Amino acid sequence: MRILVIGSGGREHALVWKIAQSKLADKIFCAPGNGGISKLAECIDIKIEDIFKLLDFARKERIDLTIVGPEAPLALGIVDEFRNQKLRIFGPNKKAARLEASKVFAKELMAKYDVPTADFKIFENDNEAKKYIELKGAPCVVKADGLAQGKGVIVAKTTDEAIQAVDLIMGEKVFGDAGRKVIIEDCLQGQEASIIVIADSKKVISLASSQDHKRVFDGDVGPNTGGMGAYSPAPIITEPVFKEILEKIIYRTMDGLAREGIDYRGVLYAGIMLTNDGPKTLEFNVRFGDPETQAILPRLKSDLLEVMFAATEEKLFRLNPLNWDSRPCVCVVCASGGYPGEYEKGKEIFGLDEAQKLEDTVIFHAGTKKQEDRIFTNGGRVLGVTGMGDTIKEAIKKTYSAVEKIHFEGMHYRSDIGQKALY
Ligand code: AMP
Ligand code: GLY
Repeated sequence: MRILVIGSGGREHALVWKIAQSKLADKIFCAPGNGGISKLAECIDIKIEDIFKLLDFARKERIDLTIVGPEAPLALGIVDEFRNQKLRIFGPNKKAARLEASKVFAKELMAKYDVPTADFKIFENDNEAKKYIELKGAPCVVKADGLAQGKGVIVAKTTDEAIQAVDLIMGEKVFGDAGRKVIIEDCLQGQEASIIVIADSKKVISLASSQDHKRVFDGDVGPNTGGMGAYSPAPIITEPVFKEILEKIIYRTMDGLAREGIDYRGVLYAGIMLTNDGPKTLEFNVRFGDPETQAILPRLKSDLLEVMFAATEEKLFRLNPLNWDSRPCVCVVCASGGYPGEYEKGKEIFGLDEAQKLEDTVIFHAGTKKQEDRIFTNGGRVLGVTGMGDTIKEAIKKTYSAVEKIHFEGMHYRSDIGQKALY
């Protein structure tokens, strides 16, 4: 098969790395890709949102399967356009992608189909939202309805903070149209985990559980980021908890989507908070998590390409259960100085070859660029250094040994990835 992967992050490097191991893959292209991906796939200079150029490319290059990494092209309807042209593509269509692109849509669906989530109210008017905040008090969570590059959620400790969030989203319109509606919801307490499944209308296949680390600094402090590291499995997701999440969250959501006449084929990612009252849904994404994917895929022994292909044909029910390496996997993100705020690009990265030589280690590139034979930084999250071990402790040790071999000016990373899995 000729494959096109869309995206340029660590998640896409992990996807390309896994697909390259499949017997079914003959040639892989990636748009636009990055410095690491360019070793495994032919990178083509087309932007992820340029749907018609991607479509043209897929047609001309006779691509058998296109795999979409990030949410933006899904929300724009890339899947509908490809399917209209009879091109095979893995991912949910535009209607289904609203599960991530509109938090209002997701919350209303959850309320209608009894999917556990925080209690909430939706507002189209900023004064009414503020009055409600005064009435309910803090803490509370303010969420912009639409896509806001992971910045549209404010967990407010005080009513002042929550009111400021409403002013930013609805008054100053910092997220543009994505902030026309806001959700004010109860603040949940507990540990978070990510449950990612691959689904079609007939069957759900779950991947191993994982846990992300969203805050920039050790001990979960500082601003939110795209994710500073992950590990898989998440020991807090015991078998009975996993079963409860599948039954009450994943299956009910898939069933709700079907009842709404929505054809769902692709990845469904549920961000979960394990509360004293059971697991509750924080958010849905309609794509693989980043950096969760970098910690999950090294553990997957089965052929991911076969699974993705089957999902496009609604044939997941024909597949054997997935085979997993039982060893835990840890991914530590190395970021540019200043990230998640402003940062510089173009710093040369040293030590990659030496780090890659270590056993059970894979270095996934995110914001990198290859120039001749040298690799330079080209984004906020630069690398996802991944290691496996017989125990989580061992996996952490191996991963940090590899991280310590790598350096670039301004590089920073969290030194406590995976620690939560130790207790
Ligand atoms: P979301 O994009 O909706 O997952 O939100 C991003 C992050 O905000 C989550 O990973 C949580 O850490 C936090 N968050 C979202 N909703 C809530 C909530 N209802 N209670 C507490 N924290 C939340
Ligand atoms: N790691 C969080 C996300 O992919 O949305």
